[in-house]
Amino acid sequence: MSLLRVSVWRGGASGEFRAYEVPRLESQTVLDVVTYIQRSLDSTLSYRFACRVGMCGSCAMTVNGKARWTCRTHVAKVADNDWLEIAPLANLPVIKDLVADMSRFFDKWVQAKGRFYGTRTRADDFARVPPGSPQRQAVDAAIECIGCGVCYSACDVVTWNPAYLGPAALNRAWTLVNDVRDTARVARLAAVAGDAGCHACHTHMNCTERCPKNLVPTASIAGLKRSVAAAALKGEL
Ligand code: SF4
Ligand code: SF4
Ligand code: FES
Repeated sequence: MSLLRVSVWRGGASGEFRAYEVPRLESQTVLDVVTYIQRSLDSTLSYRFACRVGMCGSCAMTVNGKARWTCRTHVAKVADNDWLEIAPLANLPVIKDLVADMSRFFDKWVQAKGRFYGTRTRADDFARVPPGSPQRQAVDAAIECIGCGVCYSACDVVTWNPAYLGPAALNRAWTLVNDVRDTARVARLAAVAGDAGCHACHTHMNCTERCPKNLVPTASIAGLKRSVAAAALKGEL
């Protein structure tokens, strides 16, 4: 049976890689490898997953240097001479082993006013936006984000400037700026206009290259830059 050599991050920020040998199987995913290690070699290994089908985003880790969903990444695609290095997501504190602390990531969604501010109550009918309308299509372009953190982990600007809101929070803000039912447009543009907001993006595209949902946060951020400039010219900010 052929074996895969796997280096896995163990411990917190000052931990180290530990080596394991895992049997190679057909159609094996990186998450299968991590699960094998935890169930058969070392039960103290901590990691996260839930759906195993690319819906929850909780299995995101750094695999041979790149952030990925491990449940949707086949070993055959990423192994380098039967070797894998698996680490927690970059740009986030490590809780233990492969588990990153996502608090900072989601705090930035709050800072970017990443929630919907409507006017209707539960007694009102649904506020419909026709599926074919330009307004709805503008929202659709960015709405499928599942908050996995892959783009955030891949963004160099977050590494240099930990205050930067990052691609996912800004992509969410852009989705809401385009939502015709939302009432917090100007406040949201003000929230993303500061030094750590959309203008800090250097358009490197790492986020867009890595997003497993094929979203384009770089375009969302460019949209925010235009909208912030237009709002400033109108004296709204
Ligand atoms: S934009 Fe893509 S990579 Fe970033 S959090 Fe959303 S789904 Fe994940
Ligand atoms: S395009 Fe902007 S948000 Fe995306 S990785 Fe580059 S600097 Fe970060
Ligand atoms: S376990 Fe849910 S996306 Fe991988």
